[in-house]
Amino acid sequence: MKTDLRTRYLGLELPHPLVVGASPLCDHLDRVREMEDHGVAALVMHSLFEEQILQEQLAADTFVHGHEETFAEATSYFPGGADFALTAENYLGQIEKIRARVSFPVIASLNGRTPSGWVDYARDMEGVGADALELNLYFQPTPEERPADAIEKEAVDIVRSVCARVGIPVAVKLSPYFSSLPHFVRRLEEAGAAGVVLFNRFYQPDIDIEEWRTQPHLQLSESAELLLRLRWLAILHGRYELDLACSGGVHTGEDAVKALMSGAACVQMVSSVLRHGVGHVATVLTALDEWMAAHEYGSLAELVGSMSYANTPNPEAVERANYVRLLTDAQVQDRFGPVAW
Ligand SMILES: Cc1cc2nc3c(=O)[nH]c(=O)nc-3n(C[C@H](O)[C@H](O)[C@H](O)COP(=O)(O)O)c2cc1C
Repeated sequence: MKTDLRTRYLGLELPHPLVVGASPLCDHLDRVREMEDHGVAALVMHSLFEEQILQEQLAADTFVHGHEETFAEATSYFPGGADFALTAENYLGQIEKIRARVSFPVIASLNGRTPSGWVDYARDMEGVGADALELNLYFQPTPEERPADAIEKEAVDIVRSVCARVGIPVAVKLSPYFSSLPHFVRRLEEAGAAGVVLFNRFYQPDIDIEEWRTQPHLQLSESAELLLRLRWLAILHGRYELDLACSGGVHTGEDAVKALMSGAACVQMVSSVLRHGVGHVATVLTALDEWMAAHEYGSLAELVGSMSYANTPNPEAVERANYVRLLTDAQVQDRFGPVAW
């Protein structure tokens, strides 16, 4: 490497900021080994879902008490055990196997909804050698009687209870749909979070209009999705002790440069790795290194956050001015006619 790309994320010393994000890429040990060969800095496992744990507990309960109907109803909308790549027990075993095979940090991921459902698993993950945890908070705020504050409080309570039960650092993977993200992130930090990951992607189901049913719809990301992350990284950088990670839309060295400039301590890649293979991380790393050398950056520390709000005088005014300028721009008017947003 031509430059010093070392970074620190969740207290982990990483040789560079490129991490393979949560996805099924962790399910095959050969592929994980390949990640080490290509110099991946760390790996986030795919999530263990609370429903997955419940399903196993309910299955055991059903076996003992014979409540087949309750079990069937409770789980009928969720994939069956066989549809999960790894069962809860296998998940813990997989962490152990990966830990034994590779030297880079392994971050386990939990996707839960209630505090009680999965704090024990957080401890188990720590027990089998996970270096850190990522809590993938996935809320569907559908009941109209639940105010935003109740939803945020529930999330903060989950983070607090997990952080109180484990000794390893905990990151929280967020959705972008919070009314006041800076305030919410502050609450997460007070609850013990060591990092936040911006952002999860929602897999919005499509509709099959002939069969009258919803269709799960998985689309890999494009670089355009990075823009939402850049904005929020830039707003949040420099305000907290906790680390920021970028997840979503990093496909090229330039994308990585932008995420780091905005304030990310590390960059998680999934879609681009699924599309091009694990070797793509090394390609992006070389591009990042060459870009930094060409622009005379000696170390990553000089780059991280250099374009964040903390380093921009009066950022709100600049953003508002740009917004107004864009919408009143003559070229926009010519192309789309008068715009009234
Ligand atoms: C096939 C697939 C499986 C994923 N599984 C998980 C998961 O288990 N937990 C999680 O937090 N995110 C999961 N994600 C989301 C990714 O970790 C990542 O946040 C998202 O894909 C955006 O990053 P990208 O643009 O690099 O793909 C998954 C994504 C894909 C494409």
